[in-house]
Amino acid sequence: MTRTLMPLTDLAAAIRRAVAVRTDWTDTAELVAESLRAHLPGPEILTPDQRLGEPDRVAGHLLHVEPDGAFSILGLVWRPEQTTRIHDHITWCVVGVLSGVEHEELFDEALTPIGTRDNPPGEVSGFAPPGDIHRIRNIGDEIAISLHIYGTDISRVGSSARRYYN
Ligand SMILES: [Fe+2]
Repeated sequence: MTRTLMPLTDLAAAIRRAVAVRTDWTDTAELVAESLRAHLPGPEILTPDQRLGEPDRVAGHLLHVEPDGAFSILGLVWRPEQTTRIHDHITWCVVGVLSGVEHEELFDEALTPIGTRDNPPGEVSGFAPPGDIHRIRNIGDEIAISLHIYGTDISRVGSSARRYYN
């Protein structure tokens, strides 16, 4: 099982309380976002090596899996120009930016762009399917690091993405 780093203990406990409310995905995402805002770690939650990112992909580091599989916490590292594909999700998601700026593009079901936003350090947002098709890119010139919380056991399902779109 993934070891939980000490600085994430309080965050994991707060998420555990939020999930235990057992409301719908949209409200759960908002409760978990409140938890993350209250316990947002710094980028040093990742090791110096992890914070360098990878040359060929967005680097993901699984930091915590709740023992009952209710949620997972990942650290993601984006070098400049790195991007996700356009995708949606199998469950609710909460994202908090720790350093750099993540440029997010939102799409409707026809893949028509419906908005963009630049998420700076400290920005926390929660969302849930449906209506969650997006792409995240690092359009800045420094490394971007963010924490992603998903309402499932990522070590079992492998990915938070439900579908990729081309
Ligand atoms: Fe996503």
